[in-house]
Amino acid sequence: MAQKLDITSIRNQFPILHQEVNGKPLIYFDNAATTQKPQAVIDALVKYYSHDNANIHRAAHTLAARSTDMFEDTRKTIQAFINAKEVEECIFTKGVTESINLVAQTWGRKFLVAGDEVIITTMEHHSNIVPWQMICEEKGAILKVIPINEAGELLMEEYEKLLSSKTKIVACVWVSNALGTINPVKEIITKAHAVGAKVLLDGAQACSHLEVDVQDLDCDFLTISGHKLYGPTGVGVLYGKRELLEAMPPYQGGGEMIKEVSFEKTTYNEIPYKFEAGTPNIGDVIAFKYALDFINEIGKENIATHENELLKHCVDGLLAINQSVKTLHATSPQQQPINLIGTAKQKVSVQSFVINGMHHFDAGMMLDAKGIAVRTGHHCTQPLMSYLGVDGTIRASFSVYNTLEEVDVFLEAVKKLIKR
Ligand code: ALA
Repeated sequence: MAQKLDITSIRNQFPILHQEVNGKPLIYFDNAATTQKPQAVIDALVKYYSHDNANIHRAAHTLAARSTDMFEDTRKTIQAFINAKEVEECIFTKGVTESINLVAQTWGRKFLVAGDEVIITTMEHHSNIVPWQMICEEKGAILKVIPINEAGELLMEEYEKLLSSKTKIVACVWVSNALGTINPVKEIITKAHAVGAKVLLDGAQACSHLEVDVQDLDCDFLTISGHKLYGPTGVGVLYGKRELLEAMPPYQGGGEMIKEVSFEKTTYNEIPYKFEAGTPNIGDVIAFKYALDFINEIGKENIATHENELLKHCVDGLLAINQSVKTLHATSPQQQPINLIGTAKQKVSVQSFVINGMHHFDAGMMLDAKGIAVRTGHHCTQPLMSYLGVDGTIRASFSVYNTLEEVDVFLEAVKKLIKR
C-alpha cells in the first residue's frame, strides 16, 4: 500500500524550486521535458569535480580507481533499477535519442534487408521516428505505423494486422510524452515475439513513474534518459539482451571500445565497453546514481500515487472550468473553452490541452508571467499533432515535488486566460 509522502521535505531537497519567477513563486509543471535535480545529485557533481575527477578504466592511480568504481557503481544501480539479468547489458549513452540511434545504426544496419518492416506508433517522439526512417531508407525497409483512437490509445487490433513475418522490430514508446498514455507494452512485446520480431521500448517518460522489470517485460531493448529521472542531462542508458548486443557491430570507433588495434585490423572490446567509445560523461553518470537512489528511497508506488492525485485534480479542475465558463455557443465538445488532448484510461501525470481561440504559445507566455512553467508546442511529436488535427498543445506534467496547491494556482490562472 502506498504511503502518504511528506512533500514539503521532498521539495526541500530541490533548491531550484525555492525561487520567484516574474515576481511569483515558481510552479514547475514541465517535468516531462526535464525533471529538477535533488541536492544529492548536485552535491555528487561538485564532489566529483572537486575531489575525484579522473579518466576511468585507464590508469593505475587512486583517483582513476575511485572514479572507475563510482562510474561502475551507477551501472550496478541501473541494473537493479530495471532488473537486468546482467550488468553488462546496461550501456551508458547521452540519452534516449542516442540509445535509439545506436540500435538503428548497428542492429538495424546489420539485420534489416530490403522489404523488411519496422513498426512504430502514431504517438512516437521524433527520436523514435527519424532514426528508423533513416535506416529504412538506407536498407529499403518499410516503416509501418500503429494508429490510435481519439483518446490517444493504440488500436491493438490494427497492430495485430500490421504484424507479419516481415516485421523485424517494433519500436514503441512506453509512455507518450505528449499525451501521457501508458501503452500495453507487455502485450505488444508478446505479439511481436510471436512473429519473430524484436522490441525496443522508448522508456524516456515511463521510467520515473512506473516499475521497470526488463526480464518480466522480456523487451529486447529499453532506452532511458537520466534527466527525466531527476538526474543530470547528457546521461542515458541502453539496455539490451546480451545475445543481441554481442551480435551487433560497434556504434562508434575510438578508445575504450577496442581490444587490440593495429593498422591492419582492430578487435573489439566486450559489452558494454564495445558501445562506449571515448571518454564518457563520467561526472554525470556518477551523479545519476544519486537520482536513482532518490527514487528508490521514496518508492515508485508512492511517487505514482501522489502524481496520479495531482493529475486527477488537474483534469477535474480543467473540466470544471468548461462547466463554469459556459459560452453561448458551447454546444459541442469542440466548442468548449478547453479541449483535453490525451484522455487514455491508463495515463501518467501529463495533461495536454488546447484553449479554443488562443494560441498555445500565447497561453504559455501568459502562464510564465505568473511563474508557471509548462511546455507548449508540438512536443517533438509533429506526426501525432497532425493526426490529432492540432498544431500544438499546452502541456502540464507533474512530478513528485508538485503540490495540489500548485495545481489550484495553475487552474485559477487558466481560468483567467479563458475569461480574457
Ligand atoms: N521530449 C521532451 C518533452 O516531451 C523534450 O518535452
